[in-house]
Amino acid sequence: MKKLISMLAVGALLTAAIPAGAQAADLYKSKCQACHGPDGKGDTVAGKKLGAKDFHSPDVAKTSDQELFEITKKGKEKMPGYDKKLTDDQIKSLIKYIRSL
Ligand code: HEC
Repeated sequence: MKKLISMLAVGALLTAAIPAGAQAADLYKSKCQACHGPDGKGDTVAGKKLGAKDFHSPDVAKTSDQELFEITKKGKEKMPGYDKKLTDDQIKSLIKYIRSL
């Protein structure tokens, strides 16, 4: 039991040490990549089926960060909303990450 607790403590320390960018990359991988693809092109089986756009497309480029934030938070058409699953800060860092892909 003691060992387990110290392992958890180390885990918590490591998580706290990861910079926000790396966290966004992890979140993206676990929650968004299945539809939007590793490069944000939406070129996945699910992405093509549901109609995810390429994040590099002119349409997305001219959409403001605020709008992308709202879409991620509330969802749009087949895009699920992440209101209850992610904090506002996490969503903001994800939008930054998407822009950097
Ligand atoms: C189940 C598949 C699915 C998952 C998982 C998913 N998305 Fe989407 N997403 C979509 C689809 C489909 C659209 C296009 C919605 C539309 O315009 O009709 C979309 C649209 C978006 C948009 C708006 C830009 C655009 O293409 O119009 C953003 C930003 C976005 N997603 C971010 C995210 C983020 C961040 C995550 C992870 C937290 C995520 N998505 C997870 C399917 C998904």
